[in-house]
Amino acid sequence: MAIRNIVKIGDEVLRKKSKIVETIDNKIITLLEDMAETMHESKGVGLAAPQVGLLKRIIVIDVGEGLIELINPEIIDSEGSKKEDEACLSVPGKSGIVERPTYVKVTGLNRKGQKVQYEAHDFLAKAFCHEIDHLDGILYVDKAIEMDEEE
Ligand code: CO
Repeated sequence: MAIRNIVKIGDEVLRKKSKIVETIDNKIITLLEDMAETMHESKGVGLAAPQVGLLKRIIVIDVGEGLIELINPEIIDSEGSKKEDEACLSVPGKSGIVERPTYVKVTGLNRKGQKVQYEAHDFLAKAFCHEIDHLDGILYVDKAIEMDEEE
């Protein structure tokens, strides 16, 4: 495993649409492991592949309830709405208020290529929305109702 460099806002890679992963090979497994290590090292709760410079539809999330790895994630249902604070490892030193659903149902593939489904509420739902947005070149700052400068 290795810590990868996190791409920051202003880099074009964060604005591009990521590609569907067709084959889960050793490179993808290594990427999943590196992404989790990089996220934990940075004390983040989620990371998307474009944030380490790769336009692949892969996210990792850990909101303190265990690591989630998801390949080709898709939100298939959502409910509710809540305006809450959000931040991103690619936008250091800032946070902002974003409106997100309070519930999402997400499907995708695990590292074995098996179809998996998650039902997420509140903080985890927000994390899924934020990370999946990255795969379409969307940053939370695009959706923020207001931005706060931290420190
Ligand atoms: Co982010």
